[in-house]
Amino acid sequence: MKYILLLLAIGVFQVSAVNWALLVSGSNAFYNYRHQADVCHSYKTLIRNGYSPENVIVFAYDDIAQNRQNIYKGAIYNQPNKDGFSENVYDGCVIDYTKTDVNPTNFLNVLKGNYDHLPDGHKFINSTREDNIFVYFSDHGSPGLIAFPTSYLYEQELIETFQYMYENDRYNKLVFYLETCESGSMFVNLPTNHRIYALSAANPYESSWGTYCPPDDIVNGKSLGTCLGDEFSVTFLENVDLGDFSQSLQEHFEFIRDHTLKSNVMQWGDVSFASDTIKEFFWGRRFQEKRKMCPKDAFFMNEENVSKWDSRDNKLLFYQNRYNQTGDLEDFIELEKEIKSRAYFDTIFGELQQSLKLTGDYHFALNQNCLKSVIETFEDKCTKLTDYGLKYVKLFGEMCDSTNLLQIQLNMIVSTLCMTE
Ligand SMILES: *[C@@H]1O[C@H](CO)[C@@H](O)[C@H](O)[C@H]1NC(C)=O
Ligand SMILES: *[C@@H]1O[C@H](CO)[C@@H](O)[C@H](O)[C@H]1NC(C)=O
Ligand SMILES: *[C@@H]1O[C@H](CO)[C@@H](O)[C@H](O)[C@H]1NC(C)=O
Repeated sequence: MKYILLLLAIGVFQVSAVNWALLVSGSNAFYNYRHQADVCHSYKTLIRNGYSPENVIVFAYDDIAQNRQNIYKGAIYNQPNKDGFSENVYDGCVIDYTKTDVNPTNFLNVLKGNYDHLPDGHKFINSTREDNIFVYFSDHGSPGLIAFPTSYLYEQELIETFQYMYENDRYNKLVFYLETCESGSMFVNLPTNHRIYALSAANPYESSWGTYCPPDDIVNGKSLGTCLGDEFSVTFLENVDLGDFSQSLQEHFEFIRDHTLKSNVMQWGDVSFASDTIKEFFWGRRFQEKRKMCPKDAFFMNEENVSKWDSRDNKLLFYQNRYNQTGDLEDFIELEKEIKSRAYFDTIFGELQQSLKLTGDYHFALNQNCLKSVIETFEDKCTKLTDYGLKYVKLFGEMCDSTNLLQIQLNMIVSTLCMTE
């Protein structure tokens, strides 16, 4: 009887409604292993839960599985396996946008359904007013932006895209889970009445953290030498994998918040539907004989005593750990390069802070055009911001919002930053 009702509910009354998901890893390089591991894990979780593959769109640079630093070629793991099984999440992970196609323009066009602006034949979200959308993004960020491998997505562009989707009836409800440093800053302007609900891994002032880092990165008896996941991400994914679809978005939030120990998980936007069950977003809405469970011993809940690394320090710790293990000259050189690069950013931004009398405690970027302009100028004249360097974007935000200087003067200041050395 229950089955028949379920069939009726899904097959007849909701025949046109589908769930869509957009899963994005914004980084590359092996020391950022964890972001692509999170994203392939999320893909496998949704497919296991009955999502149709054609409704899941994945962005990932795809340089991890075959990376020469990967001891398990062709495999990616998002959990260690001290006692038992760990799933190769790369196996069956269908990636739609790779390499330089992992960029903000494609990301926004996929959301808007602007298929004629996308590379030929690429998947996009062809959604209607009936459909729910789940967006998940894992990478680096800073106040007012999130990073893609070669460029940035600014908060204003994201909010404008949401506005477009709202006005053009592109969704019923949209849920966005975001894992980046200072991720809260992306949602401070999210409307509370547009059926868009978001969780950020961190508040606007702090880093997010990698987890299952060395020495808790053991798969099949060997250390992978990198963090396998991110704390917020593996917490939400491992919870969904437990299969409790009766919990509400609110309960899911509270669970994730209580188990993410290194950063403050926050809830944003339209919380009026926080009482909806997570099934509305993490389940494929297709009739399924029976959901395939994860092997029981795959579950390895992220714990307090698991090794975690601050995302901002990840590359430094990665090469420290690697050099400790290998003693190779090549790793030593990379380590020295990272130490020098961090010192360089500390110096030039220290000078910027001093010369403009910036507090360094400001974590917003309200003048988004100015922020974009100074970042582009800085990267053009000086150097690309690294995962560590992004921590100083807050000074650009403060400079743009609090000084009376003209844009051209601000651009002049940032373009000469690197000449003071
Ligand atoms: C989008 O979906 C509609 C049905 O909802 C379909 O008619 C249309 O062909 C699809 N568009 C593309 C470009 O696939
Ligand atoms: C964390 O501590 C608990 C209790 O002491 C222990 O059972 C568990 O194995 C530890 N986990 C790790 C990853 O060391
Ligand atoms: C590498 O070794 C040094 C010196 O023994 C130690 O201080 C450091 O904590 C180690 N780093 C890592 C990430 O293992």
